Amino acid sequence: MGPSLSEMAVEVLTCADGREKTALSHAHAARWFAARAAGEEIAIGRAAPPLRPARPALPELKDPREMPKRRPGSPHGRIALLHAVAHIELNAVDLHWDIIARFAHVPMPMGFYDDWVKAADEESKHFNLVCDCLESLGSFYGALPAHAGMWRAAEDTVEDFFGRLAVVPMVLEARGLDVTPGMIEVFRKAGEAQVIAALETIYAEEVGHVAYGSKWFHFLCGREGQDPKPLFHELVRRYFHGKLKPPFNEEKRADAGLPPDFYWPLAEETPERAR
Ligand SMILES: [Fe+2]
Ligand SMILES: [Fe+2]
Repeated sequence: MGPSLSEMAVEVLTCADGREKTALSHAHAARWFAARAAGEEIAIGRAAPPLRPARPALPELKDPREMPKRRPGSPHGRIALLHAVAHIELNAVDLHWDIIARFAHVPMPMGFYDDWVKAADEESKHFNLVCDCLESLGSFYGALPAHAGMWRAAEDTVEDFFGRLAVVPMVLEARGLDVTPGMIEVFRKAGEAQVIAALETIYAEEVGHVAYGSKWFHFLCGREGQDPKPLFHELVRRYFHGKLKPPFNEEKRADAGLPPDFYWPLAEETPERAR
């Protein structure tokens, strides 16, 4: 009997180096899917995930207000943009393993674990693709400061499974669908084929992650007799501290099972909340 899925998740979360973390993540995902295909059982088990995942010594984490502003049209600006994407992808690897270990005490169908292991595996690929692009451009992950608040959503929802699903895949990852086409355009203008290919892979696969969020949020609501839409609004108001900013990618959000009446009411009240 090898380690449980929760133990594998904690192993990823406590590994500090990005390339090592993603290699472990790929290896654990491969083990999970090989066992599933062979009809063998890996226990979900229990393990204690750290409140915050291990992180490399670099990048230096800074408040986003202290980060230098760079023009996206310049080579430096494009490297800064990619560096920010690499940081998001590394956090995403940890977020998906964290949801598995953090809520392992809640009985869920096997399909839930299949989805989040697949999402974590894909985020690991995304991180490496973006790191490869940075290295091709003469930089690397860690060369610039990065956003310090990226784990906030995880900490805020450490005891709320519904809240975690509402804020991480259905707000933060859905936001990725809104902004990625514009990023691809920036790199298209610069003729950066390797970056375009990486971002297109990310864009295609992120629809699935948002869809997993919506699917399992609705599943939990159905199991517990909750009305999904008002509960989603309540949870986002409670746990999400940013703004829901239009324009929204309504088409990809629809592909991911996120209807307009989930996010538009929250966007419309943003100016009131900010006042
Ligand atoms: Fe990703
Ligand atoms: Fe994702």
